[in-house]
Amino acid sequence: MSEIPKLSIAGRDHLDSDLLVVGCCEGEEPPAEELAPAVAAALRRLAARAGWDGRERQRVEGEVAAGGPVVSLRGLGKRGELTARKVADWLVKVVEEAAINGCDRLALVPPDHPELTGEEAPERVARALLLAGYRFDRYRTNGERPPGRVHDIVVLPPPAAAGAYRAALPAAAAVAAGAAFCRDLANTPANEATPDWMEAEARALAASRDMRMTVLEEDELRRRGMGALLAVGAGSPQRPRLVRLDWGAAAAGPVVALVGKGVTFDTGGISIKPAADMDEMKYDKCGACTALGIARAAADLDLPVRLRVYLPLVENMPDGASYRPGDIVRCYNGKTVEILNTDAEGRMILADALAWAAEGAPDALLEYSTLTGAAVVALGHRAGAVYTPDDALAADLLGAADRAGERLWRMPLWPEYVEQMKGHHADLKNVAGRWGGANTAAAFLSQFVGDLTRWAHFDIAGAAYVGNDEEEPREATGYGVHLTVDWLRRLGDERL
Ligand code: BES
Ligand code: MN
Ligand code: ZN
Repeated sequence: MSEIPKLSIAGRDHLDSDLLVVGCCEGEEPPAEELAPAVAAALRRLAARAGWDGRERQRVEGEVAAGGPVVSLRGLGKRGELTARKVADWLVKVVEEAAINGCDRLALVPPDHPELTGEEAPERVARALLLAGYRFDRYRTNGERPPGRVHDIVVLPPPAAAGAYRAALPAAAAVAAGAAFCRDLANTPANEATPDWMEAEARALAASRDMRMTVLEEDELRRRGMGALLAVGAGSPQRPRLVRLDWGAAAAGPVVALVGKGVTFDTGGISIKPAADMDEMKYDKCGACTALGIARAAADLDLPVRLRVYLPLVENMPDGASYRPGDIVRCYNGKTVEILNTDAEGRMILADALAWAAEGAPDALLEYSTLTGAAVVALGHRAGAVYTPDDALAADLLGAADRAGERLWRMPLWPEYVEQMKGHHADLKNVAGRWGGANTAAAFLSQFVGDLTRWAHFDIAGAAYVGNDEEEPREATGYGVHLTVDWLRRLGDERL
């Protein structure tokens, strides 16, 4: 769906672009090393202008020569205050502005700084550049499309970093494509993105990446005793289903199960949500989209792991056939759950999917869901929450998130939360009190992974999309794809 620009690395004297953006820290000379003489001269001229000192957001521009690129010298602020996050934001702005100004081919000269030319920087920079121009404009009729798009981006790193940049490109491209795929699926509204449509998207991915696909439809779900997924799906004419994808050769390496919440729309059901911002609940399938984005990138990189992807797909609607508060349902692992709120549907469908995934005894299990509003209250829209009983796994995931530039925060799985989820008339109830809602939800999930310990639950309710109340355009972020692929890449090298 979305096109991603072509990204390449070129020598510093590259002149074949419409716009050449040069970053410079405050109070420093613009880079000159090995640049085309005309560009170096233009930079000296620009830097000599009154008032230029490289402050953040400062910018001076001029033409190199007739037919040459426009050179744009941009301030990045104080060297010591430049963080990976600031760099990423800066890159997005650079690409956005270039697009608005009709630039088709953009060149970038990064300043020599650890966040741009250090060992781990190239991949992050490359990913940011590849995704900076992402737009979900599939539904815009032509006249309303914002003009312009950058099709070609060339980075001109200092010679010492050129090799690292070149080496980072394939992984960055695969991860960016996976994240863009995730975002396209997630942004698609619920009238198009039904469980049927999600299944078709998964099928297309499976066919193009040599994955095996299994779909459990209603009869099969009933036969297997997956009562929780069936209960949530009962209120919608869109039939619920559980999709499974298998990828990787038998001897390829550790088995990783990925589980993703795929509620294509969450009205809350009989415990219906208020009208305000309910449109955001088209994003309640983001967990499934993340899992698909990860699987696509892992396959494209041919990582030495085996993946099993489980996607419970369902729409949560109020209807005469809906499940109701007070109902007791039996899950795949035999546990019974008393429904106290039909809006706590995510944990229900995950109960069945997790139990099935855990039954296969994977070496690790990661699950992604826009599970609770409480996670958004706790962390806002700029970080994901992770729950796992395994300290080593937590450390690895936090490390991967750090490398990927995605914010991730570990939350507790204390036994008291499980106590709070014990049912009145059944083994469990599906909601506890108001406080610590993300934690009690995670504790509920912990009851469905059997004796697996190497599992993690990501509550991405905040991180998966930018909401109506934020300044930026409301959109899916693709959160989780980068960090998980980074984690998988290391996992492939190690023995479990
Ligand atoms: N999909 C929602 C969680 C959500 C809320 C995601 C806001 C993104 C933004 C989930 O199904 C839900 O409704 N959770 C309830 C649980 C409650 C009934 C215990 C919630 O968080 O309010
Ligand atoms: Mn809900
Ligand atoms: Zn939900």
